Amino acid sequence: MDIRRALPADLEPVSEIYAHEAREGHATFDHEGRSMELWEEKIAGDDHFLVAEHDGLVVGYATSSPFRPKPAYVHTRETTIYVAPGHQGLGTGRQLYDALLALLVDDGVHLAVAGVAQPNDASMALHRACGFEVVGTMREVGRKHGRWIDVTWLQKVLG
Ligand SMILES: CC(C)(COP(=O)(O)OP(=O)(O)OC[C@H]1O[C@@H](n2cnc3c(N)ncnc32)[C@H](O)[C@@H]1OP(=O)(O)O)[C@@H](O)C(=O)NCCC(=O)NCCS
Repeated sequence: MDIRRALPADLEPVSEIYAHEAREGHATFDHEGRSMELWEEKIAGDDHFLVAEHDGLVVGYATSSPFRPKPAYVHTRETTIYVAPGHQGLGTGRQLYDALLALLVDDGVHLAVAGVAQPNDASMALHRACGFEVVGTMREVGRKHGRWIDVTWLQKVLG
């Protein structure tokens, strides 16, 4: 497994992984994938953006983005991670997220936060394994696939 910074050539498989979760799952509250322009902006911007490559295939990615736009939030980043179906539960998420958190530490980020739409045992286990603690749960904050969805917020102080 190679964990490395995302390159423009990775955006097609990354967008497919995201679009699948948007259409079929509830980890994101998007209903469809994102445009290639948005992915290109992300790779060109300040967000941390790592991919996991296995046997020449991009099988997962992890990114950070600003938590909220006001300047006092600048030391906080929101993190997210997606592993392709068929490659989950094999340790890829853990390797990717550890690498992302190490990158955030190197860049002087103070706090990582993550919102996990429920239920998601794998994501909760991953975040806990990586040292996140639960802050609280917002009830019925999203609606997808005909049901209300809670979001549990987690945080990890990095330094
Ligand atoms: C959540 C996700 C990123 C986890 O990545 P993964 O590669 O499947 O997870 P890993 O195999 O690295 O496992 C990470 C930890 O979670 C645990 N875990 C994995 N799947 C689990 C499951 N279904 N139930 C309970 N624990 C689970 C592992 O035991 C491991 O813990 P450990 O390090 O203490 O042994 C991945 O399942 C995924 O992409 N899911 C769909 C999208 C999603 O939910 N993204 C998260 C958005 S918040």
